[in-house]
Amino acid sequence: MKLFVVILVISVSVTNCQFSPFRTIFEKLHEGPPPPLVQYRNNIHMKYIEQKLDHFDESEKRTWRMRYLSNDFYFKEKGPIFIFVGGEWEISESNLRGGHMFDMAKNLSGYMFYTEHRYYGRSQPFTDLKTENLKYLNVKQALADLAHFIKTSKETIPGLQESKVILVGGSYSATMVTWFSKLYPDLVNGAWASSAPLRAKVDFKEYKEVVGASITEVGGEACYKRIESAVKILEDDIENGNLERLKENINICPNFDVTNKKDVMALFGSFSDIFAGLVQTHNKGNIEKACEMILTGKDDVAGFGKFVKAYVDAGSKCVDLSYDAELTELRKTDLKGEMRQWYYQTCNEFGWYQTSGSDNQPFGHHFPVDLYVELCKDVYDTPFSGETIESNIQLTNEAFGALQPEVKNVYFTHGKLDPWHAMGLLCSGDCGAVVPLYAHCKDLASSSSADTPEMTELKRTISKLVTKWVS
Ligand SMILES: *[C@@H]1O[C@H](CO)[C@@H](O)[C@H](O)[C@H]1NC(C)=O
Repeated sequence: MKLFVVILVISVSVTNCQFSPFRTIFEKLHEGPPPPLVQYRNNIHMKYIEQKLDHFDESEKRTWRMRYLSNDFYFKEKGPIFIFVGGEWEISESNLRGGHMFDMAKNLSGYMFYTEHRYYGRSQPFTDLKTENLKYLNVKQALADLAHFIKTSKETIPGLQESKVILVGGSYSATMVTWFSKLYPDLVNGAWASSAPLRAKVDFKEYKEVVGASITEVGGEACYKRIESAVKILEDDIENGNLERLKENINICPNFDVTNKKDVMALFGSFSDIFAGLVQTHNKGNIEKACEMILTGKDDVAGFGKFVKAYVDAGSKCVDLSYDAELTELRKTDLKGEMRQWYYQTCNEFGWYQTSGSDNQPFGHHFPVDLYVELCKDVYDTPFSGETIESNIQLTNEAFGALQPEVKNVYFTHGKLDPWHAMGLLCSGDCGAVVPLYAHCKDLASSSSADTPEMTELKRTISKLVTKWVS
């Protein structure tokens, strides 16, 4: 009995001093469009609408409640409807209190909504996320939810019967507004897709290439080289079974197994994702500051480690970057996060694994695509294989047209620093814009005197187009 108690105490204290950073790293990359700098306090309401669980099976009668927010403060009868479409995150009031869509809606006396995607935030069809309950999580169902939402709002809210409809999305929800325009052209008059990946691809090796290129462009060549060299040194250490440098510079937990290729993947994949988070969410000064930190380290690994440790912010705990720690996070079936749902969608619909498949990036070669495919199998206990995922992705591209979506009245914008632009439609004029020096979804913010001329032009163009689409 006594022995038992002692063991228990030891095992608890071991877990208490380990820190698993996977959720933090994930959330930074999937946080949804940034909140506006200036926010107006007005009329936000939170409501729920009943939705079918399965829009494509008449015999399935179950329903669930989808959450949405609205702001009718500036609305005048017959004014247009603006819908900020939610993606793989929890919706928040801030995006109906400011930003460029808000400014346009205000000017045009519009009625604003922000819809939440099924299975994210509080829009949960089930009380947990067990694999069998994820069956109804896919983009086609989510687009059908949006169609039902638009029809119902027009029918039930006084003054909206004749209203034109404008959709705005960022990241995955920008993909959604594009695909919605394709599938339901009668329900929408125009859309703004900010940072939309449109081409599904399993091995999205271009992503880390852009991360590297953006670091060079903003932080300088020396910074890129130092990251590349640190990774190379750590790769050699791993090959030689030597964990000392990783322990000393990054405080890696002792459970890390250098001989397990899945642990090695989790480690180097996470390092690269940390830099991805820095680049994807970059605002002027961020990459510069990180590179300054990296370059002031006493050697390559010390500089690299300094930044990684600051980003992960584990305090005095050791950093658990093992595959098991990642798996534990993804296997949690409670409703608290978004990782499990999003990874499910990537296995079934999109791929988009940001692998080490390219030589043209500084993060080494230890997170190849086949290990992301393995993860699909391990997380959901279902027989995913490279072929099933490849054919899932094929179906998505066939259904929506990949880089030839053939939609009208959609404006496609990208930040040139943003790695996602590699899967997007890059165009100019009234079709869209690729703006230098900006990251992911940054154009959704209000016009500001800090905008570059290209950004000012983008905002002017979308305002002009929206005004035309609603008139
Ligand atoms: C709102 O209207 C004003 C005045 O016409 C115009 O200057 C401004 O650019 C408009 N803003 C947006 C976001 O369309």
